[in-house]
Amino acid sequence: MQALANAAQSYMGPAPGSVVENEYKPDPSGRKMKALTWQGADNVKVMECDVPAITQDKDVILKVTGTTICGSDLHLYHGEIVALQKNDILGHEFMGIVDQVGPGVKHLQKGQRVVVSFQIACGECRYCKQKLSSFCDRTNDSSLMQTMYGQRDAGFFGYSHFTGGFPGGQAEYVKVPFGDVNCLPIPDDVSDEKALYLSDVLPTSYHCVVDTGVKEGDVVGVWGLGPIGQCAVRWALLKGASRVIAIDCVPARLEMAGKLDKVDTIDFSQVKDVPAKILEMIPGGLDCALDCGTFHEPKSLLHKAQKALMLETDVPETANECIRSVRKMGRVGLIAAYAAFCNQFNIGAVMEKGVRFIGNGQAPVHLYWEEILNDYIRTGKFDPTFMISHRVKIDEFEELYAAFDKRAAGVNKVFVETKFSAPPSEGCPKVSSVKDWTDKVL
Ligand SMILES: NC(=O)c1ccc[n+]([C@@H]2O[C@H](COP(=O)([O-])OP(=O)(O)OC[C@H]3O[C@@H](n4cnc5c(N)ncnc54)[C@H](O)[C@@H]3O)[C@@H](O)[C@H]2O)c1
Ligand SMILES: [Zn+2]
Ligand SMILES: [Zn+2]
Repeated sequence: MQALANAAQSYMGPAPGSVVENEYKPDPSGRKMKALTWQGADNVKVMECDVPAITQDKDVILKVTGTTICGSDLHLYHGEIVALQKNDILGHEFMGIVDQVGPGVKHLQKGQRVVVSFQIACGECRYCKQKLSSFCDRTNDSSLMQTMYGQRDAGFFGYSHFTGGFPGGQAEYVKVPFGDVNCLPIPDDVSDEKALYLSDVLPTSYHCVVDTGVKEGDVVGVWGLGPIGQCAVRWALLKGASRVIAIDCVPARLEMAGKLDKVDTIDFSQVKDVPAKILEMIPGGLDCALDCGTFHEPKSLLHKAQKALMLETDVPETANECIRSVRKMGRVGLIAAYAAFCNQFNIGAVMEKGVRFIGNGQAPVHLYWEEILNDYIRTGKFDPTFMISHRVKIDEFEELYAAFDKRAAGVNKVFVETKFSAPPSEGCPKVSSVKDWTDKVL
């Protein structure tokens, strides 16, 4: 699948209109760094790579002080996103210290502490003017995405050549195009552990709740209790949800959500028909259903078979459960990153029940990150450190991918440190070895 996608893209050539240089040029000093690279399905490797050079005026080079792994990286790990190439550097969630600035950078200086959005926005197109940064028109030259979707999302860091082919931040250094636009300076009173997740998880989960229109008094269902779902549960409560039903099968994740007030959980390994259970608990159905799960884990034999035979790329089971579980004219939000096509989608129920079926899209981080930083993190209304289960060194990324994929040992969001990281903040996990905690359970 990867070879075919890469060949198609190379045959079509780059889509016109991108203004960003995505070629990876080594810094002339010849410096080297550690970085996590994609080698093939279920195969990633920490390698010695070149430190990237500035290639355009508005570029910034960051020394990475914190990075992490995301459910979206698992789609890459399994080779489910097209146009990956061997030795691609992964990672779209990171923060760091400005190391070099291009001559066109106006608002950042060397030494400044910043977090970076997972998307690369130009700051000037019709979407960027509304801070809809993930939908930027000018930073992704994927002709394959243009053909499949009719338009292109923004370029994303470390997320295949389908999203622009930009080297990512699971590395000691990274190049950030349009540095002024894509870096958010972090005030001294906010720790690295609280700042890092502004790159994706916090704005993404917030966007899912806001964009799906969760309102005061709503009864909300959240499918998938990884970091995105855990945060979505909390945002829904902060927006006034009267009750949340949280669905997953991982015991530690169910427990983490279930201990909150107004939250009931359903373990789908024990409950065969989740919508039937929900309709028994909430006669008439949910006001909102949020799909924070994952498209690559079929439950039924039907979808296991279709996926194995490549008759579908994406599994619609969670979306169908959401559709059946909402009330008439209820809302379903899809923040889980689907990529292509599925079969047996319950389109009839969407129409007949008047379901507002909302693709939330890749989250426009720039629309929310200042609000979340200033109104929620700095005021203490939302403390993102609740979700950090472990802290590990960059050298162990390979082991971390395997453990995160298996959801081993209660792993949830992880803080990955580099040689440039500050020591852990008070109350946050100290560094541990993946082998130590997975040996106990695997
Ligand atoms: N749209 C965006 O901007 C954006 C950004 C980041 C992540 N995402 C996506 O959000 C999703 C969640 O991310 P994460 O980091 O929390 O991932 P994760 O892989 O850690 O968590 C996914 C959870 O979903 C659960 N799950 C799987 N099938 C399920 C089902 N049928 N019903 C209920 N739960 C089910 C899994 O057990 C797991 O706990 C991923 O699909 C990721 O790609 C989207
Ligand atoms: Zn992510
Ligand atoms: Zn733009």
